[in-house]
Amino acid sequence: MQKIIILDFGSQTTQLIGRRVRELNTFCEIVPPDGFPADDTEVIGVILSGSPWSVLAEGAPHPALDGIIGRLPVLGICYGAQLLAHTHGGTVTRTTHREYGRAALTIGDANNPLLQGISTDAQVWMSHGDTITALPPGCRVIGSTHDVPVAAWAADDMPVWGVQFHPEVHHTTVGMTLLRNFVVGICGSRGEWTAAAFVPSAIAELRRQIGDDRVVMGLSGGVDSTVCAALIGRAIGDRLTCIFIDHGLLRKDEYREVMEAYRRLGLSVKGVDASARFLGDLAGVSDPEQKRKIIGRDFVEVFNAEASRIAGARWLGQGTIYPDRIESLSPTGTVIKSHHNVGGLPKEMNLRLCEPLRWLFKDEVRAVGRELGLPDALVNRHPFPGPGLAVRIVGEVTEERVRILQEADDIFVRALHAYRCPDGRSLYDITWQAGAVLLADIRTVGVMGDERTYDYPVVLRAVTSTDAMTADWARLPHDFLADVADEIINKVKGINRVCYDISSKPPSTIEWE
Ligand code: XMP
Repeated sequence: MQKIIILDFGSQTTQLIGRRVRELNTFCEIVPPDGFPADDTEVIGVILSGSPWSVLAEGAPHPALDGIIGRLPVLGICYGAQLLAHTHGGTVTRTTHREYGRAALTIGDANNPLLQGISTDAQVWMSHGDTITALPPGCRVIGSTHDVPVAAWAADDMPVWGVQFHPEVHHTTVGMTLLRNFVVGICGSRGEWTAAAFVPSAIAELRRQIGDDRVVMGLSGGVDSTVCAALIGRAIGDRLTCIFIDHGLLRKDEYREVMEAYRRLGLSVKGVDASARFLGDLAGVSDPEQKRKIIGRDFVEVFNAEASRIAGARWLGQGTIYPDRIESLSPTGTVIKSHHNVGGLPKEMNLRLCEPLRWLFKDEVRAVGRELGLPDALVNRHPFPGPGLAVRIVGEVTEERVRILQEADDIFVRALHAYRCPDGRSLYDITWQAGAVLLADIRTVGVMGDERTYDYPVVLRAVTSTDAMTADWARLPHDFLADVADEIINKVKGINRVCYDISSKPPSTIEWE
């Protein structure tokens, strides 16, 4: 399959470049600066990402590009453009101020294939501290802005381009046009990467990989593990056995509803109610990372015990998706919260990993789910953290607090499903993630009838996002919030105050813990 290689110099937006290329129905791989697959004959073009580095700084990545330049089309973005200029006889200069924000592009060469369909005054988005002050010999400016004379440039005799703005971010309104010009127009992508093409090839690959063996996998109710199981199930039928563990920290009725949905899909699922064990081990623990560790450890132990009972299993299916892997591979990746997945292979079982979604972004996983005929209710489910409501109870987790939070959360989520926006979609559909958070270390004073109350506050959290890396608080209608708050306070014993979280990520995170 044709592919674009993205050399990742550690920019915040490298993943976004990857997603945009995939939106153009073109497969791409994000690799470290020196990770270009020299022997891969299916590469049709190369994109060099931005970076927190300055090309002038000691230790900045300067990979040898000799085997690439002149042989394949290359597009440098920001640092990538500066690196190409700096290493080929041009000049990059440190500026005293950062060139940051929106700017209007003046087109210098409307016939250049990179700029087809882009007209002068198009909005682009800049974010760089260095700037190119002289181009290498044989290169010329094809676009500029008021502050950045070399905003876009091209080589005369080689397929090399550079842009100092970021076409991958949506503030660059012509970004997709520019990337399409590069990926389709210049590199010649045939647009082969679609969910409809992925499903049969993934099934064939799974059959080849697994042969006559059996596969075991843990399900979480989330989109990734569900789509993964449906795909493996389509490939090998009842040689797949799934395990769904109830850690007692799921949403109200979720265990029962999800088990029913899995059965309707024809998956063979073993449900395990381990809630007493998890809640017992969490007693007295308030620290978020400690909670995650306990839940992660218990999860692995319970899963392994169940998996060991499945005779003849040789493979462990996992719904790992591409961003999970990119984050752990990123040259600048920092761990803010230790995310918990089904980790730790049971060694004595000698299981091998089977991860058919390992190349997909989240929106592609959903498209594959639809292609497989999964119901919308499963495919469009919001993400939910592995440790569940434990990280939405700020303070110690007790059975009573879980119950209170489940009730409040259920009212909120049901209302999000029920409220229709003018375009017909529900508030649930237009938000990335939503739920309630119980501030269990706090009591506040209220008055109900003639009685003084002294109960917990609950916080409603709803965000919009495309990948959970950044998120904005959802602008939910005031009348909707008022109705939800009334219903929670009237119906959920133990809560007498409802707040709405209006922080974005960064600097906040989506979850409270
Ligand atoms: P934050 O809170 O880091 O969340 O902005 C980003 C996304 O990750 C989810 N999340 C988790 N998922 N285990 C998980 O499986 C965890 O410990 C965990 N913590 C956060 C969160 O729900 C959001 O979708």
